[in-house]
Amino acid sequence: MTKRLDASSYDTDKALHTHDLRSYEEYSDKLQDREVRLLELGVYKGGSLLLWRDYFQKGLIVGLDLNPIQVDDPSGRIRNYFGQQQDTDLLDRIAAETAPAGFDVIIDDCSHIGELTRISFWHLFDNHLKPGGLYVIEDWSTGYWDSWFDGVSFRPRPENGFSPRLFRVRSLMARIYRSKLATRIPLAQKVIVELKIH
Ligand SMILES: C[S@@+](CC[C@H](N)C(=O)[O-])C[C@H]1O[C@@H](n2cnc3c(N)ncnc32)[C@H](O)[C@@H]1O
Repeated sequence: MTKRLDASSYDTDKALHTHDLRSYEEYSDKLQDREVRLLELGVYKGGSLLLWRDYFQKGLIVGLDLNPIQVDDPSGRIRNYFGQQQDTDLLDRIAAETAPAGFDVIIDDCSHIGELTRISFWHLFDNHLKPGGLYVIEDWSTGYWDSWFDGVSFRPRPENGFSPRLFRVRSLMARIYRSKLATRIPLAQKVIVELKIH
C-alpha cells in the first residue's frame, strides 16, 4: 500500500505545498520500496533530505546546495554536497560517487533561475537520470513573475540565444526592481520590466 508523504514534521517548505506531495506520491508509488538513488538540488536546511530518507526507506538521498549544511542522519543514507547547480563537473562527480548507474529521481528545488535550471536539467537528464526516471522542477511559476531574477509575465517573443552579458544586466535590473527606491516609483519598475523583455 502507498505510504502517505507527510512533511508536516520536517523543516521543509514542501510542508506548505501539499498538492506537490500528492503528485510525488502518485509518480513515485512504485519506487517506494526500492533502493532508489534520489538527488535534490537545493536543500536549504536539509529537512527535505530527511523527508525523502524516511519515505524511501531503502533509498540513498543526495543533496546539493550553495550553502554547506549539517544534517543529523544516523542512518548514513544521506550524502550532502556543497556547490552550484550549474557546475556540471560537480554534478558528474556527485553522480560518480553516489549513483554511477544513474538517479531514479532528480528534484530541482534550487535557484528557480531559468538559465541555471536549464543547464542542470540537460546535463543531468542526458547523463545521470536512469531511463524512465523522474525529473521534477519545483516552483517553476517564478519564471512568470516580473519581480523574479529572470522572470517576466508571459508575452510571446522571438527566440533569443543565451547571452551572459544580458543575464548579468537582467540580474542587476531585478535587484534594482526590488530595491526600496524602485518600489516607491512604480514607473521605474514598469520601465525595468519592459527592458527585461527586450
Ligand atoms: C527553496 S530552497 C530549497 C528548499 C528545500 N528543497 C526544501 O524542500 O526544504 C532553495 C535552495 O537552493 C539553494 N540555491 C540557490 N541557488 C543555487 C545554486 N545556483 N546552486 C546550488 N544551490 C542553490 C539555496 O541556498 C536554497 O537553500
